[in-house]
Amino acid sequence: MTKASVIVDKDFVLSDLDRRIFGQFAEHMGRCIYGGLYEPGHPTADEHGFRQDVMELVKELGVTIVRYPGGNMLSGYNWEDGVGPKENRPRRLELSRFVTETNQMGTDDFIDWCRKTGIEPMLATNVASRDLNGAWGHVEYCNIPGGTTMSDKRRANGYEEPHNVKFWCIGNEPDGFWQIAQKSAKEYGRIVAEAAKIIKWIDHEIEVAASASSNRNMPHYGDWERTILEDAFDYIDYLAPHTYFKNDPDTMEFFANIELMDAYIKETVAMCDAVAGQRRSSKRIMLSFDEWNIAARWKPEDKKAKPGEWPDVLPIIEDVYTVEDALLIGGTMQTLINNGDRVKVACFAQMVNVIAPIMTEDGGPAWRQTIFWPLALASKYGHGKILKQVVSSEKTATKAWADMPYLVSTVLHDDATGQTVIFALNRNLKEPMELSVALKGLGEGRSVVATHEIANDDLKATNTRDNPDNIRPGTIASVRVDGETVSATLKPASWNVIVIN
Ligand code: AHR
Repeated sequence: MTKASVIVDKDFVLSDLDRRIFGQFAEHMGRCIYGGLYEPGHPTADEHGFRQDVMELVKELGVTIVRYPGGNMLSGYNWEDGVGPKENRPRRLELSRFVTETNQMGTDDFIDWCRKTGIEPMLATNVASRDLNGAWGHVEYCNIPGGTTMSDKRRANGYEEPHNVKFWCIGNEPDGFWQIAQKSAKEYGRIVAEAAKIIKWIDHEIEVAASASSNRNMPHYGDWERTILEDAFDYIDYLAPHTYFKNDPDTMEFFANIELMDAYIKETVAMCDAVAGQRRSSKRIMLSFDEWNIAARWKPEDKKAKPGEWPDVLPIIEDVYTVEDALLIGGTMQTLINNGDRVKVACFAQMVNVIAPIMTEDGGPAWRQTIFWPLALASKYGHGKILKQVVSSEKTATKAWADMPYLVSTVLHDDATGQTVIFALNRNLKEPMELSVALKGLGEGRSVVATHEIANDDLKATNTRDNPDNIRPGTIASVRVDGETVSATLKPASWNVIVIN
C-alpha cells in the first residue's frame, strides 16, 4: 500500500474554473467532420445532415467550446468556399493531407451544429495562404449584423442574425515545416499583431489566440514565444500551445507525460510573464491549450493520401484507446485544471474519429472510447473554484521526470451547489493507494454523493464497435468521511472521482 495525503482550505483558492477548459477540436481531417459530425443519409441525420447520435454523445462528453475548422488544413483554407448553396461550393485540393475538400460543411453549418448542441464556437482563420483580407472578411461575415458586403452575404445565405463568434485563433502551427507558408517568429509576430488588431476593431468583444510553438520539442521553443509576444503582446489575449504525448511502451514513462505537460504550461506562462515584466505591464496573457492528446500511432506515410489520388474522405489516425490511455488523459485533464489560474481554454484533439473519444461507423453506430470517460466525468463534475493543495505522495523516478509523485490530485469546490469534488490518479501500477484529503473549512457531517473509478486488470483493454461498453467507470467502495477528512483506498493504476455534498 502506498500512502498520499492532500490538504486544502476553502479560503485558499487558486482560481475560478473556466469551463472552456472542457473544449474539443474538430478539424476537416479524416472522418472527424465528414462521417463524424456530418453524414447526410445516416439514419440519425437531421435536416442539416448532422448525425444526432454523435450530437448526443458530444453532449454527454460535456463539451463547452469547439475549435474549427483546423488544424493543418486551415493554412490553405478559403472560408468563402464553405458558405452559400451547397451545390455551388467548390471542390478544392487540400494540401495538408492530399485530399479533396468538398466544402459540404463550412462556417455557417458549423454554427448551426453549435447552436443545436449548445456549444460555443471557436473559429480559426487562415493567415498562411491568405492575406489579412481573408481574416477581415471572415470576422465581418460572422459578427457584423448587416449593412456591409460581407455581413449582407451572410444574411443572403439565410443567417439574418450575426453568428457572434467571440473566440478566434489566428493561424495554426505556423512554425511547422509541414505547414503551407511556414513562418519565422518575426513574420508570424507581425501578422498576428496586425490580424488581432483588425479583428478587435471589427468586434471589440472578440478574444484572440496566437499560436505558441507547435510543441515543447521545437528547437525555437522559448525564442518563438518571446519574439511573437514582443510584437503581439498588446493585441492578443491567449497563447495557444499544442501537445501530442509520446507513446512510450513503458507505462510509467508514458504517465510522466503528465509532468511534462505541467512543466510545459508553467514554462509558457513564465515566457508570457517575462515579456509582461519587460514592459512593466499588468496584463497577463492566458493560455488556450487548443490541441492536446496522445500522438497518433499511425506511420507518417499513412497520414496522407497517396500522391495523385485526392480522395474526398480519407479515414486516418482512427486510434483505439486503452485503459492506460484513459488514465493518462484523466491525469492530464487534472493538470490543465490545476493550472486553471492561467489555462482558461483547452481543446482535446480531436472530437470524433480522428484520435478521438467518440468513434463512428459510416451508416452505423457511434460509441465511446475509453478516454471518453475521464473527459466526460471531468466536465460533469468540474465546476466552481479550484482549491490550492498541499500534496504529499510517495514518488518514483522516470527517465522523463526524476521525481514523479504517484498521486495526481485536484480539488474543486462549488459554492453554488455546495459540492466538493476530488479527482485522483494513482500512478502506482502495483500498489493500492491510501489517500486522505483534509477539506479544511468545508464543514463536518458531509456525505459522499457519487464515486467513479476507471481501472482494469488489463491496462490494454479497449472499447470497440462490437464491445462498446467493455470499459465503463465503476464505483469506489472504500470512501469514508470522518470529520473534515475524506479517505479512500484507490486501486493500483486507477483514475478516480469522489463527490461530496
Ligand atoms: O490534430 C491533428 C493535427 O495535429 C492538426 O491538424 C495539427 O494542428 C497538429 O499538428
